[in-house]
Amino acid sequence: MPLLKVVDRDGREHDVPARSGQKLMETLRELDYGISAICGGMCSCATCHVYIDADWAAKIPAAMSDERELIAELSHHKSGSRLSCQIEMTDALDGLRVTIAPDE
Ligand code: FES
Repeated sequence: MPLLKVVDRDGREHDVPARSGQKLMETLRELDYGISAICGGMCSCATCHVYIDADWAAKIPAAMSDERELIAELSHHKSGSRLSCQIEMTDALDGLRVTIAPDE
């Protein structure tokens, strides 16, 4: 079971167990300080926006064009921006550090 390091919108870091084979979004939306994921993972709402730490960005498959286009429209997008519904958790991502992006 990979362990996430999740930084909330107040800057506090939490250790959060995730499940391999599930989307990162599915773990984050269960947290009080997590994301809303309104569209349920359809890559259409961007309410699952997170920032992936630079050390980890290369270890995650690159975003597809629909994800990239949606992120480009966000006012808070920056280097490391990803939609957590598009990232599948694996054991190789044990220790992944993500920051919850501000609400749009
Ligand atoms: S949950 Fe809507 S885009 Fe990710």
